[in-house]
Amino acid sequence: MRSASLTIRMGKRNNPIGIFDSGVGGLTVAHALHSLLPHEQMIYFGDTLHLPYGDKSRETIISYSLGIADFLLQQDCKVILIACNSASSNAWEEVKAHVGDRAMVMNVIDPVVEQVCNDRNVIKSVGVIGTKATVDSGTYARRIQECAPHLQVSSMATPLFVPMIEEGFVFDDISNAIIRSYLSRKEMEEIDTLILGCTHYPIIRNQISRFFNFEVNVLDTAQIVARNVHMLLEQHGLLATERTQPDRFLVSDQTPYFGVISGMFFSEQIQLEKRNIWAR
Ligand code: DGL
Repeated sequence: MRSASLTIRMGKRNNPIGIFDSGVGGLTVAHALHSLLPHEQMIYFGDTLHLPYGDKSRETIISYSLGIADFLLQQDCKVILIACNSASSNAWEEVKAHVGDRAMVMNVIDPVVEQVCNDRNVIKSVGVIGTKATVDSGTYARRIQECAPHLQVSSMATPLFVPMIEEGFVFDDISNAIIRSYLSRKEMEEIDTLILGCTHYPIIRNQISRFFNFEVNVLDTAQIVARNVHMLLEQHGLLATERTQPDRFLVSDQTPYFGVISGMFFSEQIQLEKRNIWAR
């Protein structure tokens, strides 16, 4: 699950970056990317018809992810960024094999693992929080221990965080109580670094840092991923020279609710378009 394909077809530098998630959480990554690389055109796809992925089986997550990858290939994307930890941890190998050299496939786990491994001499114990699908896959722990066997890795599913954030419970008594209830468990007692293994969680990063009295390094995963995309595009000569089309934000099911919460994840008002790629 390491470096992106080296056999990527060239001559695609101004093609869009395709980004997908189960819903709107991946917009935290899209926003970090948009701020860092304003010349790049993004086509974001949120599979709101099928969310959440965090409670689905591996087989189901793979099948949805392959369908979305096909759709993004039809849009001529030069990159497919899986901006969902549940899909990155369960379907990355399959998406990469399926796409082959038609686009570069990236996930949100590799860059974060790489950062932890680079800092392995100053880290002792890492916590990972995410959906059940992400934590049950064991991907973060396995990958970190491959490069830093001495590191203690404690993973814990925190499934209430996604609905809590989507309902707007952020920096208030309810979110404080839920954060305290999860993060004061013994799995998180000794950690000095915390990975937010879900693309929704950057929204509560400051609140989590405060819970730990700013004594735990809560990694800014969206920023780390965006910087990594930049680096890989540069390495492969795929950085856009100009933006030819506006960004697009597509969702497989549309309700006014998704429109309202998308602003929270992208920090700017965006227009969601309904595109049900699953309709026959
Ligand atoms: N954004 C998803 C992730 O990063 C979480 C939401 C879901 O369960 O679909 O895993």
